[in-house]
Amino acid sequence: MSSPVPAALPTAELHLHIEGTLEPELAVELARRNRVRLPHPDLASLRRAYSFSDLPSFLDLYYELSEVLQQPQDFTDLAEAYLTRAAAQGVRHAEVFVDPQAHTSRGVPLEVVLDGLAEAFRTAEERHGLSARLIACFLRDRDPAEAEALVPRLRPWHDLVIGVGLDSAEVGFPPELFRRAYALAADEGLHRVAHAGEEGPPGYVLGALDALGVERVDHGIRSIEDPALVARLREEQVPLTVCPLSNVALRAVPDLAAHPLRAMLDDGLLVTVNSDDPAYFGGYLHDNTVAVSRALGLGAAERRSLAEHSFRASFLPEADKQRHL
Ligand code: HPA
Ligand code: ZN
Repeated sequence: MSSPVPAALPTAELHLHIEGTLEPELAVELARRNRVRLPHPDLASLRRAYSFSDLPSFLDLYYELSEVLQQPQDFTDLAEAYLTRAAAQGVRHAEVFVDPQAHTSRGVPLEVVLDGLAEAFRTAEERHGLSARLIACFLRDRDPAEAEALVPRLRPWHDLVIGVGLDSAEVGFPPELFRRAYALAADEGLHRVAHAGEEGPPGYVLGALDALGVERVDHGIRSIEDPALVARLREEQVPLTVCPLSNVALRAVPDLAAHPLRAMLDDGLLVTVNSDDPAYFGGYLHDNTVAVSRALGLGAAERRSLAEHSFRASFLPEADKQRHL
């Protein structure tokens, strides 16, 4: 007999790409609405394409499908669908990644993206009982000058966009390339996070901390290969936003039983569980928590720690954190 599914605890989601919440059904609907030809003619063949060998093979499909997002309403519908699902899985606060360059580079204006998302985020509290903000990510496999130019353009949306991040293909694109973009973001009063140590080496985590001044590291699982780095992450209580189902889907770890989450918890790191690109990797936040808890034998106390970590690691004002803890 399998054990009952544990209840979802109130949690903050800190590592979630809004483009990665595009479910195949919505992709097909938006393709029809916007007359975009998808490379996969029907839902069944599109679903079959959701199988990956590594991060780049996933990103190919992720960017390809993002092309169905054209109008402000498309971004509103995408965010509304995510917020509905997230609330049902216990999410009470979400700091959501968006990839502006994935849209502006194909001619969709920044205001279409941000105003469209803002429409859904504005009503998130009253409709879904959750607060939501954005973190604009620089695409690390594009010219860092583009990232530097993006920073001042975010100014009109600072109520909504609270920080910058760094994502896309990691290996070969070290954090140091974005030193200037992050310095500009710091001058604007924006929070700073970066993907590091997902496929890239522990040195990229160090680079994110030292060259970019990040306050939180996204993924960071390869940090465990460097004991001195682990000691520093523990001492400084640097949050790490871990995404178990993503790591298996992109083969950063062979299976959930081999996932380093338990070792990271046992090492005293401030780790959180998140869903990354849930439409592609098989589950939203609580799905990740349940799956990794089963695989690693995490109990109720560990799940409570993970939920508590999520609010501590968030960029919520201290009084709001306390309200959730
Ligand atoms: N890693 C890097 N870039 C991304 C990811 C990810 O998991 N998801 C969307 N862009
Ligand atoms: Zn990610």
